Amino acid sequence: MSMTSPLLEMEGVHKRFVLHLQNQTVLDVLRDFSLRVLPGECVRLSGPSGMGKSTVLKLAFGNYQASAGRIGLRAVDGSMVDITQASPRDIVQLRASAVGYVSQFLRVIPRVAAIDVVAEPLLERGSDGQPHMEPVAARAEAARWLTRLRIPASLWQLPPATFSGGEQQRINIARSFIRTRPLLLLDEPTASLDPQNTDTVIELIRAAREQGVGIVGIFHDPAVATAVASRSVAMQAPSS
Ligand SMILES: Nc1ncnc2c1ncn2[C@@H]1O[C@H](COP(=O)(O)OP(=O)(O)OP(=O)(O)O)[C@@H](O)[C@H]1O
Ligand SMILES: [Mg+2]
Repeated sequence: MSMTSPLLEMEGVHKRFVLHLQNQTVLDVLRDFSLRVLPGECVRLSGPSGMGKSTVLKLAFGNYQASAGRIGLRAVDGSMVDITQASPRDIVQLRASAVGYVSQFLRVIPRVAAIDVVAEPLLERGSDGQPHMEPVAARAEAARWLTRLRIPASLWQLPPATFSGGEQQRINIARSFIRTRPLLLLDEPTASLDPQNTDTVIELIRAAREQGVGIVGIFHDPAVATAVASRSVAMQAPSS
């Protein structure tokens, strides 16, 4: 794959929310929004609260359906898939192989131990039907990531549901970086972290960029943004 072919291509994207329980109130959060992300770059989405930054990431991950426009994601076979037209099954496939997402909140599966939450992406089957790693090796790799992100070993066998905000955020980060995909979406990945763990996440993002991962990120902390981002896109209120 050429280093100049985009991993993400959003073109003329419009996102409208209609609030049925609020008298059909219409919110046009994005109008004619476009964004291209190349391998190795980290594009920061900046701008005031409520301008649609998280919405852009949710659209790119297929969590929200665009009201209009095109959202191309590069699949691992090199083809560009317009996720506004893709089936739920295609989107599941893209998430397993092409795009990762660190939301601010961990969606925990009840009763699954933290170490298994982190190891899980290594056990997913690839397009050849084989898991990326055997369970024992995957757990060993997960243990390395938990150590790197300073999760005490006493917590590894516990489900993360009761973990602190910063601990859950680090589980989320470990789970996303243990098997990097070509495109990574980061929604305030250091928001709940102390300076030491913030530095670790900065290192991880830089290393991913060096491997050619393309990143779209929301970073409230200007020091973090300066350390990781290659350019910035300012989000503004759409003119009506
Ligand atoms: N599922 C939804 N239903 C209705 N409105 C929504 C939904 N998701 C987002 N919005 C609205 O879209 C607007 C943009 O939200 P978004 O979360 O993208 O903002 P943001 O730029 O990430 O803000 P912040 O910096 O506070 O995280 C907000 O006004 C929000 O209320
Ligand atoms: Mg947000």
